[in-house]
Amino acid sequence: MTSSNAPRWWRRPWIVPLMLVAVAFLAFSVPPYLTLDPAESRLEPPPGNDLYYPLLVGHVLFGTVAMVTACFQIWPAFRARYRRGHRITGRIYVFAGALPAGLLGLYIGWNTPAGPSVRVANLVGSVLWITITIIGIRMARQRRYADHRRWMSRSFALTMSIALSRVINVVATIVLTPQLDTTFGGNEVLLRYSAVSIGAWLGPLLMLVIADLVLERRKTPKKPPSGVDASDRRRTPSRV
Ligand code: HEM
Repeated sequence: MTSSNAPRWWRRPWIVPLMLVAVAFLAFSVPPYLTLDPAESRLEPPPGNDLYYPLLVGHVLFGTVAMVTACFQIWPAFRARYRRGHRITGRIYVFAGALPAGLLGLYIGWNTPAGPSVRVANLVGSVLWITITIIGIRMARQRRYADHRRWMSRSFALTMSIALSRVINVVATIVLTPQLDTTFGGNEVLLRYSAVSIGAWLGPLLMLVIADLVLERRKTPKKPPSGVDASDRRRTPSRV
């Protein structure tokens, strides 16, 4: 089904930058895992654990599907013009993207070499990703489309948070490096894991806050138009 009243891309100025971030992140992060060679992995598999590497590759592939389909889902013109396409990419996002990537994230996150703070951040991030996505699907099944839109927006924010985590990680490394010989006692690995931890906590947290700020700004007015019951409005599909 098509519609001509899709918001123009310039009314949603974050869409193009977001897509560029997704493309840049995928182009940088994914290629080493397409070789299926553990020696190319940026994360060293724990010694003696044969499951880790295949599950990490699975996470990266499902994560790629999640990121690509998320871009289509939040693109207002695509959503408005291709309703059927929106439903199909939505299902792919959930069942071949966010849910399997999040489940595998639990395993690889638990087995991180980067210490307890990163482990807990990984588990919290994965659990939030899975839970928020499931709530989003439940809202759609119950035809609560405004709530569905809100929860899926949070799920997409978490999908994109991985790119922000990497940027924060780099900034944290640069900021912490002068403290190598003081705070970290000359231990470079400790410094690196601290920077990873800051990224793993701040990335999802900031993205969820940003998503909710955007959602808050786009909220429909409190007072329903005359003749419309407030409870009806909750069931009306609306755009991000
Ligand atoms: C909230 C969403 C996500 C969570 C919770 C998550 C979780 C994780 C975890 C726990 C690890 C292992 C890190 C460690 O050992 O400390 C990891 C690695 C990785 N994830 Fe995700 N992930 C998410 C989204 C994504 C997405 C959307 C992609 C897109 C491709 C992705 C790609 C990767 C890659 C490439 C690695 C390997 C590390 C690297 O080479 O930089 N992740 N992720």
